[in-house]
Amino acid sequence: MPRRRDLLLGAAAALAAPAAARAADGLRGVAAARGIRFGLAVQGDALVNDPRAAAAVAAEAAVLVPEGGGKWLALRPEEGVYDFSELDAIIAFAARHGQTVRGHTLLWHAAMEDWTLAALKEGAARGRPLLEAHFDRVLAHTALAIRDWDVANEAVADPRDSADLLRKSPWLESLGPDYLDLAFRAARQRDAGLALTYNDYGCEQDTPVDDEKRRRVLALVRGMRDRGVPIDAVGIQGHLRLGDPFSAPKLAAFVRSLRDLGLRVLVTELDMIEDELRSDAAERDARSAALVHAFVSTVLEGGGDAVLCWGVTDPHSWIGREPGYPALVSGLPARPLPLDAEYRRKPMWHALARAFEGRPWP
Ligand code: XIL
Repeated sequence: MPRRRDLLLGAAAALAAPAAARAADGLRGVAAARGIRFGLAVQGDALVNDPRAAAAVAAEAAVLVPEGGGKWLALRPEEGVYDFSELDAIIAFAARHGQTVRGHTLLWHAAMEDWTLAALKEGAARGRPLLEAHFDRVLAHTALAIRDWDVANEAVADPRDSADLLRKSPWLESLGPDYLDLAFRAARQRDAGLALTYNDYGCEQDTPVDDEKRRRVLALVRGMRDRGVPIDAVGIQGHLRLGDPFSAPKLAAFVRSLRDLGLRVLVTELDMIEDELRSDAAERDARSAALVHAFVSTVLEGGGDAVLCWGVTDPHSWIGREPGYPALVSGLPARPLPLDAEYRRKPMWHALARAFEGRPWP
């Protein structure tokens, strides 16, 4: 048993240790040293069946978010049936590793079984009780473990598809344009202390589409605030596009506007979409790291307090499983995440560590 004095000396040495030594702890430790929470999206079966993935998640993440386990598709296989198996596996893993869990997502336009879509088509008289029952059951089941839920995901219309503020989601079509107000109020009513987050993509970079998406997301959350609808945070997904320009001042202004509304800001789904995979891996990694560093530093300097990546190791990424996000272009595997296929730390990992430490890149 070490003596108290040794423990104190050990703690002092740890505090004084150079950044490189602390980095041995994983990103969760590097971030925590600066009061930032770092986390990862996870799939329940990988945590249970893949010891290497589980070890990396334990070492790197202070926060877990289910990649699919909190969506209707997982939770609601049939009407009246709730399947919490994947979510519960993630919650149990987090409890064993001193991690918290955030919820994703109570509402989304995608990832629902046909029975859900058919029910929503019947209109508000059917859709509203469906939403209420889901919130009742899911928020009660997860109340002890999950204190932050994405209440709605990607509800704002993509400017490339529509000039409207809200996406033509099955929820919008069933319940009408105040469905988000209703959902956030329903969540607050069921759990007064739960952090209620609105989560979206396309607000990160410097294109006219990003400009318009930022304007719309701000309009949505400002409207909610004005109407007295409870909302606590905005999640900026952070699926960065390597081929698109980035403007720190534009992103900083967006974060500032959200903070001025009294909202917390976090990065929820960080990864890299490599539009141009023609360069070699080292060059792509270097460019990805620089963009990740600039993006994360800007959000943190603006008062953001958490950063989550959408997975930990390249081959497990959703990029490659989805149309439009190829795993292979010009014969080279995509490299969207902080660790490579062998669980080695890539430049992106180090860029994150440096951003957490408030140090420049490279
Ligand atoms: C993705 C998952 O990563 C995939 O495994 C699944 O097939 C589809 O959904 N934005 C989101 C996430 O908010 O929920 C999406 O996750 C990725 C894009």
